[in-house]
Amino acid sequence: MKNSRRLTILDTTLRDGAQSPGFAFSSKGKIRLVSYLERLGVDVIEAGFPAASQSQFRDIQAIAERIKLPTLAVLARSLPEDIVTAAQAIKAAPKSMIHLSIATSPIHRDHKLRITQSQVIETAVEAVKFAKGHCPKVEMGAEDATRTEPEFLLDFCSAVSQAGADIINIADTVGYANPEDFSLLIRFLHDFVPDLKSGKTALSVHCHNDLGLATANTLAGIRAGASQAETTFAGIGERAGNAPLEELIMALNVRKDLYGDIATKIRSSALTEGRILIQTLTGMEISPLKPVIGRNVFVHSSGIHQNGIVADPSTYELFSPGDIGERQNRFILTAHSGSSGVQRVIRDLCNIDITDEQIADILDEIKSKPGPFSLTDIIALLNKKHIIASEIWTVSMKKVIRIDNRLKSVSFALESSHGRYISVSAEGESPFESFIKQINSIFTADISIKEISFGYAGVPKECKGHFFMKAICRDTLYFCERYGTDDLHLFAEAVFDIINELQIPKEGKLDDR
Ligand code: KIV
Ligand code: ZN
Repeated sequence: MKNSRRLTILDTTLRDGAQSPGFAFSSKGKIRLVSYLERLGVDVIEAGFPAASQSQFRDIQAIAERIKLPTLAVLARSLPEDIVTAAQAIKAAPKSMIHLSIATSPIHRDHKLRITQSQVIETAVEAVKFAKGHCPKVEMGAEDATRTEPEFLLDFCSAVSQAGADIINIADTVGYANPEDFSLLIRFLHDFVPDLKSGKTALSVHCHNDLGLATANTLAGIRAGASQAETTFAGIGERAGNAPLEELIMALNVRKDLYGDIATKIRSSALTEGRILIQTLTGMEISPLKPVIGRNVFVHSSGIHQNGIVADPSTYELFSPGDIGERQNRFILTAHSGSSGVQRVIRDLCNIDITDEQIADILDEIKSKPGPFSLTDIIALLNKKHIIASEIWTVSMKKVIRIDNRLKSVSFALESSHGRYISVSAEGESPFESFIKQINSIFTADISIKEISFGYAGVPKECKGHFFMKAICRDTLYFCERYGTDDLHLFAEAVFDIINELQIPKEGKLDDR
């Protein structure tokens, strides 16, 4: 094991992340995100670019008044007026930093800035000196550093560190780098810029994901000597985004054998909460396949994998659900599933073990149907096979009675396999809450929804919506997924997945009674 060293995490979800199309945060949303990032344990929160607009300036001021532990950083171009505005925006924060940036690459110098190498250095040095007069901590970044001549970058770093920069940021602005050459670049700067080598100036890496290498490059930079990594939650950011905080943290945690004992203050068990918060604040769904936090990360569908997980979760899980704040893994039954999966799902549902013939029979049915089986589908199948005898409720009708701008009133007719009927009317801006309240009272349940999403994808005339709901009831976690076009109807059906599960007698299979 290599020696322990401290890595600073600068989270730029509220600055670079907010530049991501679709991921705009309201003023209130920003405050919620800041308090989440504080709880998560990031060292620095980059909250925006105050010179960009009056509203950003005001939002940052409001954050500065509330932020407690992390350093509040803001971006500023290397211009005196940007620096003054930045300093004003963050003045109320207990700890603050101005993050300056200037492009160093020939492409940016020639086409965007139209200045020479020595003018870049001169401007950056002046900006650092000016910013140091306005804020105790200053970071100076080389934008597009990875497409910059390495010797010039070395001169740039030496000059700005001598001018007083506390941190130098090496930005792979367009995700051009690969881990091998990024590692060489960072090691070269670290070893040949005296203030970086001595540790007087910290070295930071900021990687974009245009070629899908942001995490790999960030890790390579850390191994080569960087002591700060700039990340965003879920990797949101310009174009293909930034290095995702959760991937970096879990790679460092899982591969201590490779990276050594690198300490951060991040509480990884708060990561799942972060995904749900980002989705709630922006209405944008984070891909179910997203490494570490995607909701499929602990879902096992194929027979070989289910078998392995039953034998030992470490066969197909690199880390445990609890490590990122998930309650448990789960199995879904699909045409790819096998007998271990069926056995576990049925044991979880009914607390019984079924025979190998019964498993084979159930698998045959499952394999004959495309798409995943819902909980209600499985319960119906177990009833059909006389493994259990339970009441099954179905949503027989839905009627939207009135919509007046924001207020909806929706009524559902529900019918059970035992010939019982109920109807439930749900009202309000979101009928979900009202529906759950009534169902909980009718069925003495305590369903609480943790996450819900509905979205369409595909070609308009063919596409179907996908509905997902994560809920807890009687201390059990439920994942209900359905396809269709009517979100309210799919929602009611998902809720009745849970109710139908509650109707299953838990004392054993029919033949044992
Ligand atoms: O990608 C980039 O170069 C940036 C800088 C402003 C740090 O976001
Ligand atoms: Zn960036």
